[in-house]
Amino acid sequence: MSDYLINTSEDYNNIYQKSTNDLEEFWSTLAKDNFKWQKSWNSVLEWDFSKPEVNWFQGAKLNITENCIDRHLESNGDKTAIIFEPNDVNDKSEHISYSQLHKRVNKMANVLKGIGVKKGDRVCIYLPMIPDLAISILACARIGAVHSVVFAGFSAAALSTRINDCQCEIVITSDGSFRGNKILNLKKIVDDALNDCPQVSSVLIAERTKSKIELKSGRDKLLNNLIKNASDSCSIEIMDSEDPLFILYTSGSTGKPKGMVHSTAGYMVGAGYTFKNIFQYQNNDIYWCTADIGWITGHSYIVYGPLLNGATTIMFEGVPSYPDYGRFWKIVQKHKVNQFYTAPTAIRALAKEPIDFVNRYDLSSLKVLGTVGEPINEEAWKWYNKEIGKNKCPIVDTWWQTETGSIMISSIPNVIESKPTYATLPFIGIQPALMDENGNEIIGNNVEGRLCIKFPWPSMARTIWGDHKRYKETYFSAFKNKYFTGDGAYRDEKGFYRITGRVDDVIIVSGHNLGTAPIEDAINEHDLVAESAIVGVPHEIKGNSLFGYITLKQELDSEESLSDIKKDINQLISKQIGPIAKLDRIEFVPGLPKTRSGKIMRRILRKIAHRDVNNLGDVSTLLNPDVVKKIIEIIIK
Ligand code: WT7
Repeated sequence: MSDYLINTSEDYNNIYQKSTNDLEEFWSTLAKDNFKWQKSWNSVLEWDFSKPEVNWFQGAKLNITENCIDRHLESNGDKTAIIFEPNDVNDKSEHISYSQLHKRVNKMANVLKGIGVKKGDRVCIYLPMIPDLAISILACARIGAVHSVVFAGFSAAALSTRINDCQCEIVITSDGSFRGNKILNLKKIVDDALNDCPQVSSVLIAERTKSKIELKSGRDKLLNNLIKNASDSCSIEIMDSEDPLFILYTSGSTGKPKGMVHSTAGYMVGAGYTFKNIFQYQNNDIYWCTADIGWITGHSYIVYGPLLNGATTIMFEGVPSYPDYGRFWKIVQKHKVNQFYTAPTAIRALAKEPIDFVNRYDLSSLKVLGTVGEPINEEAWKWYNKEIGKNKCPIVDTWWQTETGSIMISSIPNVIESKPTYATLPFIGIQPALMDENGNEIIGNNVEGRLCIKFPWPSMARTIWGDHKRYKETYFSAFKNKYFTGDGAYRDEKGFYRITGRVDDVIIVSGHNLGTAPIEDAINEHDLVAESAIVGVPHEIKGNSLFGYITLKQELDSEESLSDIKKDINQLISKQIGPIAKLDRIEFVPGLPKTRSGKIMRRILRKIAHRDVNNLGDVSTLLNPDVVKKIIEIIIK
């Protein structure tokens, strides 16, 4: 029996070595000893990256909800599985125990069966961060339906594209959603989306805001009524290892969103094992990830990873700024959160606010801090470490992707040291490679290249829904026999990895490869700078020159001080990176265009810098589409 827990650096070295010396032996022992199977596998791994085809635990049978819920019931039925923290501070939080979760998932599963959902059917879930969201996901998994969660901030057009791409016939939504002091009419968005989705036969509506909604007869059903009459027992559907568990859309640099397909067994093993070790989750810990379940982070590290480990996981409905910028820290104090996992964009936004919003609260329960989603700049890292972690909580900077299903490169608390801006070492079983532009692997340390993964890992996505050719082209064609991540990375003298940003963000200036992240890091050191984004603009002599968009923490009044700041910024860059990375043009803007997951859309900034503003593509899914117009006005004077 081996749980392969990683508690010391020796454990890490030994287990890592074991996992790479004999990949199959390692993963099969881990899978066999730590998860519940209805039938064991015939072969651990079959793979061929040239097709690409990857099969893990072939022939095995299981259901992931038996692993997330049923197996904890006997010893831990009364333990809280989910703490729901509502948007409004004055509303009570809700504690759902594992046995209550079991009943609620079963009821929901029976409702789905009742409207005809069968194994393999796709179900679109468009819900705010309320318990029904986690319950719907698990109910689908229980009966073998493939869930496709769409972030409930997406527009009707984005929703209908995703519903149609995987031909969902069922949509689960709510009457509305609370976001800070706003109420969004989700049902209306669904109605608009469904004008383009004739195949949808049923819409299930959870009650949240009690907003007035219109029901389309024959199609729309109120969930409360159905749940009331549903049985609370439902046997598990027995799934094959490679049966799809879910689809989750991620946007590519071009074209329509890609429906990444995740498998049942491999995803389970990856999400379960990484959660336990990277967050060093101990039995009675309270764990909180602030992501939305509409993203992979929420799938793997709010729902599946924690529940697979019998953990207590918090679901927060609201936003970090409501009723004020102290909300996150208020929640940490209230629930005595032990592990806290968020994104650099949230950290930067909160760091801009008066420190009193932090210092009002007791954060002494915190043991581990996590960050994910984009490179974290050094200033934000230091603020997080000092003000939130009080210099005593290891920070796990976790690098991974929707496509990888679980964390791939990360430090491990008290095992692999944290190093600002470094994701550090590959997780167990993961073998990264840095590649040069000619397709050769770059060996040794103190080197930079394109980040690839050499061998399959259990939780990798198996295909793009309906477009295996695109899957092959996007991830397996740039480098022979390797998975290409699309990111660049630097490997330091200790073998630690620093993610330098998407490779399409690399700018070559006078023959020097410059990642945008280190330059932005240097700029953000400036006391008055809130955020920055660098793009390349074609330059006659240098090939490219650097153009910087800067947002300031506060408005300044005189032209003169702005030009001082420009000088200071270039001095900082010269100091941190070298004069080669100095910016040719610096513009102060009121905000940066961001995706809903908080990533800066450099593509748009690049086009504006190129004065190519008639062809910006779809900006409607941005978090802040209005800022684009304002930036254009400033740049194209
Ligand atoms: C891309 C994947 C996986 C959860 C959320 C994002 C960037 C992610 C880090 C990190 C530097 C990071 C990469 C990656 N990214 N985590 N810790 N440090 N960059 O999922 O939307 O699929 O985006 O996010 O560029 O390729 P996603």
